[in-house]
Amino acid sequence: MDKFKNKFYLVSFVLLYLCSCADNNEEQYISYNCEKLDNYYQMYIEPIMQENCTGCHNQSYSAGDLRLDNFDYAVNGIIKGFVHDRVIMEPNDPRFMPLGGEKLPDSSINYIKEFTDMVCP
Ligand code: HEC
Repeated sequence: MDKFKNKFYLVSFVLLYLCSCADNNEEQYISYNCEKLDNYYQMYIEPIMQENCTGCHNQSYSAGDLRLDNFDYAVNGIIKGFVHDRVIMEPNDPRFMPLGGEKLPDSSINYIKEFTDMVCP
């Protein structure tokens, strides 16, 4: 009986650990609270979004139904919105982002790539 209990605790613990990074609130919306992700977002991603993207992707004007103006939205946008795919396109592509702007510097694109890989390994 004790052996079973221990196994049960072990399994619960492992499950808890696996789930601690991503909590599924609703099916469509994923809320992440990894400290590592959050720190990376604040250090590298937020400034890029503020400078280039949030003018069109915010609460009152969410172009393409995409918000990029806070951590949760940016994480979701990056997973589901193909952010990396859009920023590596050439500016003459109609799907290029930032729309009407210039291609982001390689360093910014690399940060976005890194963040994308952290979010969706
Ligand atoms: C001048 C306004 C403008 C700026 C600035 C802008 N976008 Fe957009 N974005 C749009 C519009 C309009 C759409 C919807 C049309 C489309 O999908 O191309 C869109 C769509 C998108 C989509 C597709 C959303 C989806 O769910 O299909 C992504 C991803 C995206 N933008 C990312 C970005 C990123 C990242 C930046 C900053 C580097 C950025 N955008 C800057 C106007 C803008």
